[in-house]
Amino acid sequence: MPSLLARRATEEDSGCRFEKGRIYTYIGEVLVSVNPYQELPLYGPEAIAKYQGRELYERPPHLYAVVNAAYKAMKRRSRDTCVVISGESGAGKTEASKHIMQYIAAVTNPSQRAEVERVKDVLLKSTCVLEAFGNARTNRNHNSSRFGKYMDINFDFKGDPVGGHIHSYLLEKSRVLKQHVGERNFHAFYQLLRGSDDQALQGLHLERNPAVYNFTRQGAGLNMGVHNALDSDEKNHQAVTEAMRVIGFSPEEVESIHRILAAILHLGNIEFVETEEDGPQKGGLAVAEEALVGYVAELTATPRDLVLRTLLARTVASGGRELIEKGHTVAEASYARDACAKAVYQRLFEWVVDRINGIMEPRGRDPRRDGKDTVIGVLDIYGFEVFPVNSFEQFCINYCNEKLQQLFIQLILKQEQEEYEREGIAWQSVEYFNNATIVELVERPHRGILAVLDEACSTAGPITDRIFLQTLDTHHRHHPHYSSRQLCPTDKTMEFGRDFRIKHYAGDVTYSVEGFIDKNRDSLFQDFKRLLYNSTDPTLRAMWPDGQQDITEVTKRPLTAGTLFKNSMVALVENLASKEPFYVRCIKPNEDKVAGRFDEAHCRHQVSYLGLLENVRVRRAGFASRQPYPRFLLRYKMTCEYTWPNHLLGSDREAVSALLEQHGLQGDVAFGHSKLFVRSPRTLVTLEQSRARLIPVIVLLLQKAWRGTLARWRCRRLRAIYTIMRWFRRHKVRAHLTDLQRRFQAARQPPLYGRDLVWPRPPAVLQPFQDTCHALFSRWRARQLVKNIPPSDMTQIKAKVAAMGALQGLRQDWGCQRAWARDYLSSGTDNPTASHLFAEQLKALREKDGFGTVLFSSHVRKVNRFRKRRDRALLLTDRHLYKLEPGRQYRVMRAVPLDAVTGLSVTSGRDQLVVLHARGYDDLVVCLHRSQPPLDNRVGELVGMLAAHCQGEGRALEVRVSDCIPLSQRGARRLISVEPRPEQPEPDFRCNRSAFTLLWPSH
Ligand SMILES: Nc1ncnc2c1ncn2[C@@H]1O[C@H](COP(=O)(O)OP(=O)(O)OP(=O)(O)O)[C@@H](O)[C@H]1O
Ligand SMILES: [Mg+2]
Repeated sequence: MPSLLARRATEEDSGCRFEKGRIYTYIGEVLVSVNPYQELPLYGPEAIAKYQGRELYERPPHLYAVVNAAYKAMKRRSRDTCVVISGESGAGKTEASKHIMQYIAAVTNPSQRAEVERVKDVLLKSTCVLEAFGNARTNRNHNSSRFGKYMDINFDFKGDPVGGHIHSYLLEKSRVLKQHVGERNFHAFYQLLRGSDDQALQGLHLERNPAVYNFTRQGAGLNMGVHNALDSDEKNHQAVTEAMRVIGFSPEEVESIHRILAAILHLGNIEFVETEEDGPQKGGLAVAEEALVGYVAELTATPRDLVLRTLLARTVASGGRELIEKGHTVAEASYARDACAKAVYQRLFEWVVDRINGIMEPRGRDPRRDGKDTVIGVLDIYGFEVFPVNSFEQFCINYCNEKLQQLFIQLILKQEQEEYEREGIAWQSVEYFNNATIVELVERPHRGILAVLDEACSTAGPITDRIFLQTLDTHHRHHPHYSSRQLCPTDKTMEFGRDFRIKHYAGDVTYSVEGFIDKNRDSLFQDFKRLLYNSTDPTLRAMWPDGQQDITEVTKRPLTAGTLFKNSMVALVENLASKEPFYVRCIKPNEDKVAGRFDEAHCRHQVSYLGLLENVRVRRAGFASRQPYPRFLLRYKMTCEYTWPNHLLGSDREAVSALLEQHGLQGDVAFGHSKLFVRSPRTLVTLEQSRARLIPVIVLLLQKAWRGTLARWRCRRLRAIYTIMRWFRRHKVRAHLTDLQRRFQAARQPPLYGRDLVWPRPPAVLQPFQDTCHALFSRWRARQLVKNIPPSDMTQIKAKVAAMGALQGLRQDWGCQRAWARDYLSSGTDNPTASHLFAEQLKALREKDGFGTVLFSSHVRKVNRFRKRRDRALLLTDRHLYKLEPGRQYRVMRAVPLDAVTGLSVTSGRDQLVVLHARGYDDLVVCLHRSQPPLDNRVGELVGMLAAHCQGEGRALEVRVSDCIPLSQRGARRLISVEPRPEQPEPDFRCNRSAFTLLWPSH
């Protein structure tokens, strides 16, 4: 009773969820998806962002969450994973696979690498192309996949797609010839007819109306989708052509594809008629409408005659390598035509798949360099289907679903229960239906249905489908999942000699054996293969490599269609089993493809045959989640004080136990040897919520710590930089000072006192220091020099310094090297005859004028404004400038107070001309002479003494150096210059009105 209630609750629940547009549900990690038959706002970039990088339970159930889990397992643990999508026809498998592709495309390649973008483009666009050629409208699904598709996507170590590979499985090619009522041929035909422009159709000799062609007549009145507008075939034609261009098909290849499709349509309209024996056609057979043969020949780029011959007859090799042509009957010719149409379409489809694979193949990958690629596989295969009449194709399709169910059972139910056992969890086994026995019935060697069918095909002679059925009956008489009218004569739903029935996991299916042998043998006359191999269209030719064989060549019997399919299924299942599987179980809510209707009986049936009930039961009795202890701790340890940040308990298991006790959740879990099993999702949700509450705090903590670390690093670096700078600077200063010290060691050496020492270039910081040093040094050096001068020489030195300053280097020779005696009139050598006279006069003047010192005295020759030249004496005291008369005991002729003297002028030569300027007086023009030695150079001495005196009194003295000196004498303006004369015995003046000249003895 409780379980019944529980079941009702879930059913209601699922109905409710569906009504609210929640089409996804989990059973453990298996996603159950119910086809909504309407566009729901569940997809797109925003939804993708919501699921990206999240855990499965963090968000409401969604396809994206499962893909994300597969992607994460692939990226984090380098595991190959696969997503297996199953469900009956029209349940939404193909749509799901497209959403998966979109999710992967959206979350990968953040760095926009061009090669990865190319691969993604091809991955996304390939679906559209494959659907055009491999999908068709059936009564169950308007866009039903008529082939199986398994697609591997290769990822590099960064998790970006770098290539892919598509495996296609058994195309339902009989659809090319014939469709059930309400169904269509493959979309490609209608797209070509409705979507091509008039010119293109004309080129293909086609009419726009699909009802004109035998192969498309049945579906002519039907359009492609339920929701789509009438023009969808047209739009899709554009979309497919564009997709082919993007993928990398050349325009020639696309044209070839169109020509091949057109050729198939024309081929379908070819009818055969019997003619008279002696008519133009051999063998009494002709084509009703010859123009069609021409079209086929043109479109396949083959010779017309050869096409006709191949349609009407076949070549057989008789015993002795001899070839004979054997004409067909009408039935044989029609059969051959159909076989050809089917085969051409199949080869076309396979060529398209191969072409896409060639483009998607991972390029330039070297496992040693790039590491091994990891793979996500996506399986979207035709769903279990039951039609009013089921033939070989349905048999194969349903066998395939049987194999996949087997894999599901093994991986989900069996493995799960085995895991409980392995982990030592107390467990009561749940019974489930294991379909291994049905798989056995089909594929067992020797006795299995496929083996019996192969046997029938290989036996020579007219083995009929009926005999094949009889053999089956004998072999499987007692098999619980096999029956036929022969074995159950009362069951009128089967026909004698035609039908057999298999109790599939998903329900009973009655198959009609008609055509089984033929479809399994899948033969085509070699003539057709050769014809098409010899086409001049390279694309078509590439589809028929086996047409190369010589007719007489004896070849091994090719594998039958059934065996090929079985082998491919075994390989597929092996491949899937080697990967980590993720399941998407699609459910079709009603048979009428309408939105919003949840047909309970219909869904209940699917739920039961998909094994979802057992799945739920195992999960219910079992646990919603299991995680290894370390992983559990890693995710939730922040929610408990004992485990955060790291626990100190004996083992992870004890830590997990402490954590759960703190939350009060210990009753809802079981402890395995290595994993924690959590019974209800509620527990996980509780844990997730408290984790989510703490995450922001932890993030802040981490940010804080990290920011602190960053700042500390920066600070340490800065300090180091400053230390280095400090030491470097110190080193530079020290090196500089050492250098200075070394250089200036010799500075104390007289007499130069380091005059010629070169100052090294200082570092920038020391520049002011060095400038100061320089000044100090100069001062020190001056002191050293001055210190050695006796006090008696000081007057002379001061005068020399003053003269140097006053003359500013403008006079070449100013007697610096000489000792300056100054008072030459008192000197016995200079003035031997009259020095005592001068001394008396000097004494009298001292008394009268009260001067202190004599600055300068000398005999001179003067010229006045009246151009009179006379010998006189010049006396310069610290009070006056005197002009004396040497001939009359040095009587004073003129005394000019020294304050009135404003300046003096001299020449740049060696002559002894001096012009003294005084305020209120005429300029006094003199030439020093009668010196001992003669012509002694004393002008500098006079300048120096006067300048030093004025400096001492703080008064300005203007000293002019010029070779042409202007004179001012009572308003008269004149110039005086010097003329050197070798023959001149004594200096003298020559005068005219405007100019005076000193004639200077220049020898
Ligand atoms: N998630 C979805 N949202 C909206 N419509 C959907 C969704 N899934 C499926 N459908 C609708 O259901 C139709 C059939 O889905 P789909 O072609 O995927 O079925 P299938 O399982 O691949 O069937 P088959 O085995 O015949 O190939 C789609 O054409 C679409 O109209
Ligand atoms: Mg499909």
